[in-house]
Amino acid sequence: MIYTKIIGTGSYVPKKMMTNDDLKEFVDTNDEWIYSRTGIKERHIVTDEETVDLAEKASLIAIEDAGIKPEDIDLVIVATVTPDNYFPGVSQLLQARLNLREVMTFDVNAACSGFLYVLNIADKMIKSGAYDTALIIGAETLTRLTDWRDRNTCVLFGDAAGAMIITKSDTNNIKDVICGSRGDVDDLLICKNVGIKDPVVNAVGMQDHIHMKGSEVFKFATRILPKTVNDLLDRNNMVLDDLDYIVAHQANERIISKAAKDLKFSMDKMFLNISHYGNTSAASVPLAIDQAIKSNYLKKGDKFITVAFGGGLTWGGALIEL
Ligand code: UT7
Repeated sequence: MIYTKIIGTGSYVPKKMMTNDDLKEFVDTNDEWIYSRTGIKERHIVTDEETVDLAEKASLIAIEDAGIKPEDIDLVIVATVTPDNYFPGVSQLLQARLNLREVMTFDVNAACSGFLYVLNIADKMIKSGAYDTALIIGAETLTRLTDWRDRNTCVLFGDAAGAMIITKSDTNNIKDVICGSRGDVDDLLICKNVGIKDPVVNAVGMQDHIHMKGSEVFKFATRILPKTVNDLLDRNNMVLDDLDYIVAHQANERIISKAAKDLKFSMDKMFLNISHYGNTSAASVPLAIDQAIKSNYLKKGDKFITVAFGGGLTWGGALIEL
């Protein structure tokens, strides 16, 4: 039986930081509203860096942390909704930057759930026996898609990348990964930008921005987060008390605390870093896991569930023992 385990993690955020007070220059908002409604105090944003730049820096840290050589990697999957090109993908750009072998590399678009999707794919590809060592990444520059005149969305997002190396193993550490989606409610969180319709007539295309029906996404998130945790526990004959921690997508602290309350799980065991980074979409979960491990919040032997939700609508969760 082939199992999988995490052998290294890394993350990176751009240097430029923007506080809630800085946002007052763009939109009619204030620190009190943003912090009390979301838990966000500041976020990091790109200036001249692209998504691949963030992905490269996070990957180098993860590779070093894993103690492997770049040539050991035989699979690269990048979760992003902010690729630098339609093609080549961030994964191919990254392959060249890291001097990897001529292995399979591809991008996955599942918005904020993207990292759970790439973890699910890589986990199953390694467990199939076809691959040994995967570099998986969530990397986003969502602030490049943000409408900086829309206070409903621009206060929420930040840029980041998180990377993870997973390999085949004799021990069962990545125990289960599940994902789902509902395309029938796509308009709750959407960014339409797939080329120009009727390009002969409309020679100049308008770049679209992120649109979100915030309170409806909030309701979805607070329902799907505990449901995904309970589904994972049920599938693995476990109960909540068997878990040491939950590492949830950092979209809104109120979503995380409502989920903790509904699950009857201590808020002390729900990892939080949203105040410093905001919602970094697909980077949110691997950034959180990397910081939780490096700060010794998560320790060897701990059992945790990581869970995310986002545009699509999509969601995913993983049950992991470190
Ligand atoms: O990762 C992808 C998933 N995304 C999410 O999980 C986001 C889920 N949704 C949320 O987190 C929350 O719905 C938001 C943080 C986006 C909004 O919080 P809310 O408590 O649902 O506020 P609201 O949208 O109902 O707006 C309440 C009021 C409105 O004013 P009126 O109509 O009551 O006068 C908004 O115009 O707050 C106003 N408002 C703001 N005021 C100051 C909205 N944004 C701001 C702002 N500053 N930035």
